[in-house]
Amino acid sequence: MSPKSRKILVTSALPYANGPIHIGHLVEYIQTDIWVRYQRSRGHLCYYVCADDAHGTPIMLKAQEEGISPQQLIERIGREHQRDFEDFSLSFDNYHTTHSAENRYYSNYIYEQLKKGGHIATRTIRQAFDPEEQMFLPDRFIRGTCPRCKAPEQFGDSCEVCGSTYSPSELIDPVSVISGATPVERESEHYFVQLGDFEDFLRAWVSGRDQGANGQARVQPGIAKKLEEWFKVGLKDWDISRDAPYFGFEIPDKPGKFFYVWLDAPIGYMASFKNLCDRTEGLDFDSYWKPGGDAEVFHFIGKDIAYFHTLFWPAMLHGAGFRTPDAVYCHGFLTVNGQKMSKRRGTFIMARTYLEHLNPEHLRYYFACKLGDGIDDLDLSADDFVKRVNSDLVGKVVNIAARCAGFISKKFEGQLSDDLAEPKLYAEMLAAAETIGASYEAREFGKAVREIMALADRVNQYIDERKPWIMAKSEQSAGDVQAVCTMGLNLFRLLMIYLAPILPRTADKAGEFLGCGPLRWEDVEQPLVKRRVNAYEPLLTRIEVEKVTAMIEASKESAQMSSSIAADTDNVQLQQIDISQFEIVDLRVARIEAAAEVDGADKLLRLDLDLGGTRRIVFAGIKAAYDPSELVGRLTVVVANLKPRKMRFGTSEGMVLCAGPGGKELWLLSPDSGAKPGMKIR
Ligand code: MSP
Ligand code: ZN
Repeated sequence: MSPKSRKILVTSALPYANGPIHIGHLVEYIQTDIWVRYQRSRGHLCYYVCADDAHGTPIMLKAQEEGISPQQLIERIGREHQRDFEDFSLSFDNYHTTHSAENRYYSNYIYEQLKKGGHIATRTIRQAFDPEEQMFLPDRFIRGTCPRCKAPEQFGDSCEVCGSTYSPSELIDPVSVISGATPVERESEHYFVQLGDFEDFLRAWVSGRDQGANGQARVQPGIAKKLEEWFKVGLKDWDISRDAPYFGFEIPDKPGKFFYVWLDAPIGYMASFKNLCDRTEGLDFDSYWKPGGDAEVFHFIGKDIAYFHTLFWPAMLHGAGFRTPDAVYCHGFLTVNGQKMSKRRGTFIMARTYLEHLNPEHLRYYFACKLGDGIDDLDLSADDFVKRVNSDLVGKVVNIAARCAGFISKKFEGQLSDDLAEPKLYAEMLAAAETIGASYEAREFGKAVREIMALADRVNQYIDERKPWIMAKSEQSAGDVQAVCTMGLNLFRLLMIYLAPILPRTADKAGEFLGCGPLRWEDVEQPLVKRRVNAYEPLLTRIEVEKVTAMIEASKESAQMSSSIAADTDNVQLQQIDISQFEIVDLRVARIEAAAEVDGADKLLRLDLDLGGTRRIVFAGIKAAYDPSELVGRLTVVVANLKPRKMRFGTSEGMVLCAGPGGKELWLLSPDSGAKPGMKIR
């Protein structure tokens, strides 16, 4: 390591452990990983840590819905996240969880310090409470009619139709999303961080005037503007407690009260790093987290969570005697084909679905092309994606190796020339390292890629001018072919060194092919001469357009699957009943004696059922899924004590039971063979 080398700790936001990683998330993890890999390639000590964000009501409810414990859920999702991240070559030094001993320790510690400093206030608040589930309801778990525009089915905090925000108590006809019950208001004691205590400190931090920093801004201009607005409206106290039942950490001196997930989530950065320190010889936690240390700390996040990271988080750290971040870097949101990611359009693409169809290096490259240092949203357009990867990355860069490798291996047994034929051209490409490096450092990856592609154009131009394929035809110019191809491969190597933070796997493969081991930035000045390269195998192939289409189709399908399953499980989970309530329903085995279409009804079949002596006529909406003839003789399950219902075509005297969302996707329940008509189901 050079004497000027830096000690850097970098984080990405912690993904919630209640769902899979999607390509929107990947913008952030790929952006961070490129920056981290660049720092390491320049010889800096750069740690990259992350974790799953494992607490909160949505995770608790999702586990309930699946009939498993929250621990089981977060373990499973944690494994899935890590597998996805690994397959996208994200180079975390540690991936932890916020549901950990380290995180409990630092959460308690920071809370205690804030309390000692007099920054915690206690207040009794009124809040919506679900009388059936016996729990307080977060705003998002209440729905009702918007008090302003009267749109039905709106969330408790804001209306998606007219955009107004309000408190849940203003909703008309509110219902709990969990039980369907009408919420009541209840009082409860809550604990608040008095954010206003930190205003002077936060203003100084934002402008980079705190802790003797050199006045470098901690946030991007767009975020600084937001912060100015937030300061202007005034910093409000922050409610950091939640009542049981809650999946999280119980507050040490307040039984039955839990830390709000957003209190312990950012502390998860520290906890993950602590966990790494405990396993790493010589890695000292305090030099990264105590004021006056010689390390730097950077957080990469989406702009939606800037408030938490630029106000709450530095305030908590400062209030508890820790150092604050050198900078918080925000990125914009991903749109696909110019629109918000959408399940219906198949553009809500999961990381796993992407991996089943396409190469992760392609997406890393594309995001790099689109990323700058700002907070604007970025668009993944399918056509642009295919074009940039195929014509720039594969067509310009990788093609250089393909063009030169054949001659070198066939004519010269892989042997490179003794020296560089065009040292000036090599030096020119070497000189670009400075500006490319500066672009990486400034998170201007799009700019870095443009600079690298301009160099690639230069190399292709050189090869086109020399035309080794023509030289190769005559014996006299054999040496020239070797010289040109040696140049070409050396320039290709430089390009790959510059691209390595973006394309780690392709760079590794290139290193193997060139026989020089891993490509390292520090080796740029030593060209490869007087040595052999290995046989060439394609380093990266083009995107086939059909695979992109297939990925989008697969995303549509998986969205349909999950929404129909979710709709079903929602209902299962809505309301709990006890066994006596269940026993009110008289379920019986029935034999279908006859089945027939009903004149004038496009969804119904008329079923004649035998319930072991008694007969019933039932109209069932299963016509799209079953041909009447295949039903005759079959056993099924019927609700025998359903009130008869008069329909246009006759009276239905019960109901047969099916699984599935409806239409063609219906499956009639049947008992195993041996069951007799009339048997009670219990
Ligand atoms: N758990 C919180 C973060 C806690 S950090 C102490 C969270 N999780 S998240 O799973 O919703 O998002 C994780 C990160 O992915 C966030 O930084 C978020 O901005 C980012 N993105 C989620 N969807 C995104 C896009 N569609 N586009 C770009 N980034 C996106 O927030
Ligand atoms: Zn409204």
